[in-house]
Amino acid sequence: MSYIVLQFTNQVSANAMTTQNYGSFNGMTTTQFSPGDLVAVQESFGRALFQGDVIGRFYEILLASHPDIPPMFHKTNFSKQRELLTQGINLMVLYAKGKAIGKSGLNRIRYTHNKSHYNIHPNLYKYWKESLIKTLLEFDEKINPEILISWNKVIDHSLKYIMEGYYD
Ligand code: HEM
Repeated sequence: MSYIVLQFTNQVSANAMTTQNYGSFNGMTTTQFSPGDLVAVQESFGRALFQGDVIGRFYEILLASHPDIPPMFHKTNFSKQRELLTQGINLMVLYAKGKAIGKSGLNRIRYTHNKSHYNIHPNLYKYWKESLIKTLLEFDEKINPEILISWNKVIDHSLKYIMEGYYD
């Protein structure tokens, strides 16, 4: 099992976007979600939250993942902003479901994170994704390669949309 997961996470890194190719994250142009993917993601996140401080651990991993990231959060009060990750994942699921509220929520993130605002370069989103996957591997005791595929689909679909707004 750990071998399979390791193989899978290597694939996640190998699939990660490059500077030249951030417009088609993971080379995907269309994404098909089954209701099973969305249920798998929601249940996985629920199990992880139940296990402990997922959000604290996610930010710990994210901040350590790239030297450009910690300064971006220097004004952030994490105890007040604990819901950022949960909010982001809920929006990703709603967006994957094709709900208008998901798209309008992601539009807000796309705007606040673009070049003229927080200036989160598209190259950095792979660290966000890898940090989330690493956190899930630690906290969701039922995680398996199939659930990780569902996570990848849901995350990639939203990250692609957010990254495409970088120069807006
Ligand atoms: C490496 C990638 C990312 C970095 C460096 C980053 C950085 C930030 C920063 C600095 C803030 C402001 C926090 C504050 O108010 O002090 C923020 C807010 C936020 N981020 Fe991110 N972010 C990243 C990716 C994402 C992703 C992928 C999502 C979810 C889809 C997300 C969701 C949010 C939300 C919901 C907020 C609060 C609302 C807002 O300010 O737009 N972030 N982020």
